[in-house]
Amino acid sequence: MRIRVLGSAAGGGFPQWNCNCRNCAGARNGTVRTRARTQSSIAVTSASQEQGTAEGPVAPWTLINASPDILFQLRDSPALRPARELRDTGIGAIVLVDGQIDHTTGLYMLREARRPWPLWCTESVHADLTRGNPILDVLSHYCGIDHRPMPLGGEFLIETLPGLRWRALPVPGKPAPYSPNRAAPLPGDNVGLLIGDERTERKLFYAPGLAAIDESVWRAMRCAACVLVDGTFWSDDEMIRLGLSAHRALDIGHLALSGEGGMLEWLERLPAGTRKILIHINNTNPILDEDSPQRAELERRGIEVAWDGMEIEL
Ligand code: MLT
Ligand code: MN
Ligand code: ZN
Repeated sequence: MRIRVLGSAAGGGFPQWNCNCRNCAGARNGTVRTRARTQSSIAVTSASQEQGTAEGPVAPWTLINASPDILFQLRDSPALRPARELRDTGIGAIVLVDGQIDHTTGLYMLREARRPWPLWCTESVHADLTRGNPILDVLSHYCGIDHRPMPLGGEFLIETLPGLRWRALPVPGKPAPYSPNRAAPLPGDNVGLLIGDERTERKLFYAPGLAAIDESVWRAMRCAACVLVDGTFWSDDEMIRLGLSAHRALDIGHLALSGEGGMLEWLERLPAGTRKILIHINNTNPILDEDSPQRAELERRGIEVAWDGMEIEL
């Protein structure tokens, strides 16, 4: 399977439009060695599908999360816009891991599609996107959505992308602030995806929002050849210390990288050879500064930081 990182930043992107923290200011004025990043999304395909079929054009990519920055991401990803017909896309289906603004707003940008989008999401995300933020109802006046219920824990297949097997695991996290479930999350408000390639027998575990690692998440992480996981915050009180928010990372559904029980400790315990990549990086996170001690610590631990345009072959 081939994975393309379309957007590696958390909500707000990097630099964030109204932020003058050290990272954001440094990214703008060149005093911090870093790269700009758009909001959270990846796309996946399988090698066999990319060749196309005798039947004609295929749309071999599945978009995972639809970022508000999708139009820029597509502009920078020629493989996802193959231009075989007057109106064409390489995206055949969309999968959502939650109903957050940074993962769903891009659906509006994709409204010119010529057929309803096959859209995989859980029942609770579907409920949020037809009630608290009724984006799917609004889209019914444009291209429309062909909703495919995503089973929790069970396997599912995406017909436009043969060769891959999908499993959505409920993960501890937080639904979006507009969700009626915000204070009392339900299983299915946030999922991690375990995507297996039938040909190579290698798996990707993708979870851009993860508040804790429970037994089923840990099992999925251990069997994956690559984990692409929540790297939102370096420390749990990062936003509080900068005076930017009253909330800890955990309060908004993200396990911090550092500290006891943090993501770095978990990644350390994965089998040798697991590729470890952080994604959904918040603009305040010191790992965005390529000269920071925190970034050096990741390098010592063999952990990579996703960037827009990064490709992973599994
Ligand atoms: C999150 O990942 O916590 C949210 O996307 C934050 C946001 O909506 O800005
Ligand atoms: Mn987010
Ligand atoms: Zn900032």
